[in-house]
Amino acid sequence: MQLEIKALISLLGISILISSCSYRNEKESKFEVSFNSALADKVSYQLINERILIPKCISCHGDSGNINLESYNDVFGHIEKIKQATIITRKMPKSPYPALTNEDLELLATWIQVGAPEKPLDGTDQQPPVKYEPLEPTFKSINKNILQNKCIFCHAPGKEAERVPLDTAESMIDSPLEIVIPGNSEESGLIISTSPNARKLMPPKKSGIAPLKPEEIEIIKQWIDNGAKD
Ligand code: HEC
Ligand code: HEC
Repeated sequence: MQLEIKALISLLGISILISSCSYRNEKESKFEVSFNSALADKVSYQLINERILIPKCISCHGDSGNINLESYNDVFGHIEKIKQATIITRKMPKSPYPALTNEDLELLATWIQVGAPEKPLDGTDQQPPVKYEPLEPTFKSINKNILQNKCIFCHAPGKEAERVPLDTAESMIDSPLEIVIPGNSEESGLIISTSPNARKLMPPKKSGIAPLKPEEIEIIKQWIDNGAKD
């Protein structure tokens, strides 16, 4: 009996979700989001956090002043707004972040549809805990934890800051803009532009992306002063 009611409610919910999306699709020909029953009992907060929230939302929804999406309770408390902003209107992630992929949308829609559970409904708890890789003074770590999350969309070919390459250690060292001067963090553009007193602070305030934390700046300094190796 209970199961039937649950199934009915979720069916009702699915059709509402799908109809509101296909309505938009007629006008804007976006990917039609649908519930994926194969994923229904496997999706969990952990998975959504690892695949979507950490890489695509937290830079602007951590300590940047926008709504905070760093914990399960924060996310659960804003779930209706999240559904609106990501699936219905698609206004999040905000530019300059790239839009969610079709796979992301399906995963998120399915998770919200089954009630946004913290753990998978199939009762397993098999997903590995989210790995917060510690920030280390290597290009690999800095790139993954900072540049990819907070810089690269604008600093990519075809984007507004393509003149300033941040994609590899060599391109930063070779640039005439002195983005990285090995052994001299103080005069490296990477440090100058991200320090709180910068004339043109990076990331730009208007982007809504949180400024670098003091410990992040410190790690970049160490990397540069140690010779800025890969
Ligand atoms: C580049 C920065 C940026 C990124 C990335 C970003 N957001 Fe936002 N978000 C904002 C800003 C700024 C606002 C507040 C102003 C507005 O609504 O446009 C906001 C508002 C919101 C709101 C509240 C909308 C409302 O109606 O009050 C939700 C929910 C939200 N974001 C969810 C997300 C989710 C989920 C992601 C990741 C998939 C995400 N955002 C990624 C900057 C961002
Ligand atoms: C919203 C887009 C945007 C984001 C995000 C962004 N930048 Fe920029 N950045 C720009 C623009 C635009 C310029 C100016 C480009 C030019 O002069 O051609 C710039 C210039 C720079 C410069 C050169 C400053 C100079 O000496 O002229 C550096 C270094 C830089 N950014 C580093 C970063 C870093 C590091 C991050 C991430 C922590 C970042 N940027 C995030 C848009 C962005």
